[in-house]
Amino acid sequence: MITKRTPADLGVIRDLAEKAGAVIDRARQAALDPETHKKLRRFTLREAAQTLEVHPRKIYELLGQNDPGLPTGERTKSKRLFTLEEIHLLQARMKQLPAQKYDIREPVVVTVANFKGGVAKTFTAVTLAQFFALKGYRTLAIDLDPQASLTSMFGLNPQRDVDERQTFLPYFYGPEMLKDTEDGWTGTLETAIQKTYWHGLDLVASNLQLYGGDFALGMRKDSEPNFVFFKPVAEAIASVRDRYDVVVIDTPPSLSFSATAAIYAADGLVIPAPAAMVDFESARSFFTLLCDVIEVFNKREAQPKQFDFLKLLVSKYQPSVPVQQRIANWQRTIFDDYCVSEPMLLTTVVQNIGPAMQTIYEAQDYKGSRQAFKRALESVNAVNEQIEAEVIGTIQARAARHGREKAA
Ligand SMILES: Nc1ncnc2c1ncn2[C@@H]1O[C@H](COP(=O)(O)OP(=O)(O)O)[C@@H](O)[C@H]1O
Ligand SMILES: [Mg+2]
Repeated sequence: MITKRTPADLGVIRDLAEKAGAVIDRARQAALDPETHKKLRRFTLREAAQTLEVHPRKIYELLGQNDPGLPTGERTKSKRLFTLEEIHLLQARMKQLPAQKYDIREPVVVTVANFKGGVAKTFTAVTLAQFFALKGYRTLAIDLDPQASLTSMFGLNPQRDVDERQTFLPYFYGPEMLKDTEDGWTGTLETAIQKTYWHGLDLVASNLQLYGGDFALGMRKDSEPNFVFFKPVAEAIASVRDRYDVVVIDTPPSLSFSATAAIYAADGLVIPAPAAMVDFESARSFFTLLCDVIEVFNKREAQPKQFDFLKLLVSKYQPSVPVQQRIANWQRTIFDDYCVSEPMLLTTVVQNIGPAMQTIYEAQDYKGSRQAFKRALESVNAVNEQIEAEVIGTIQARAARHGREKAA
């Protein structure tokens, strides 16, 4: 057989990258609204009540007071629709915002990590961040993966719409490397943060330039005498600690310097791993490397590193596949309290809405089966509720500790 020879030089590869970029851009454009900004849908009163964890009657009562300061929603023929901002307003009036309910002193940082790609890290991070925002937590999502999938999920084209100052890059460079540059060192993560179309959910975006961050951390490790390479993420978050209740970090598929810094910054670690032999094997390797990383922290720090919670998450789970059942059972048995008890189901719903750049929380008028959509939503919610419970536990433990310290 004679095959057509297709050698690939720089020109060919550049051409392929451009063609692929053009197609992706068109798909993204189709998913955006006419102002080329992604917009969040409105929510029904029933959804609002579910989000606020109150009976719809409570909201009716509140709205019945005809208080001009309260939103009335947009009336359609059959229902009333509220924006997320309006829901948060109602929530504030009912004193049900997390910041009103709990004594939150600083954000709880949840890092989603695993050095394998394709295990649903970004899916977990983006749905988790949106779940927290829905519930009224002041949430910051940080994309530390130069591949910037999380950034894309927020309707941004990483190479076109994201300036490197809107990424974590300056915080990996640090004051010394930035001192002679035009923009310089700002000293706060605030300058990198952008709002999203989700009320209460802000973003530190990413793009390919962030690859340079790892080089910078490696260089500074050798050239700056007092530099601790795993601290920049924690320090940058500390600079905006008054503004957020929860921070969710998505990490690259590696145990790079930047991923290590995200692990150091974490109060809670979520490790997605599909119930497949190769994935489980690689999760095990990840834990082995994690031990090495924590030893590095402990050598340099007075306090040994302790996560407030650590959860393996069985991701992309197909309950009808016997071998997955078996492996998921091992995962649950071994990890026990260190495992989210509900697996994240692999669903065609997620796959179907993927090209529209939507998450399950954003999708509306799903064309496929209602039943399938409901199941997919329930699966994501069940996982996120467990992680929320851990976050609340962490907040409460901190508040109790603070109370004891004050009393002593
Ligand atoms: N529960 C799920 N159901 C269906 N597809 C999923 C699910 N979780 C993840 N995926 C898909 O798997 C692929 C890899 O997920 P992603 O979150 O990008 O992984 P990672 O960030 O670990 O590389 C994506 O195409 C994503 O849409
Ligand atoms: Mg990813």
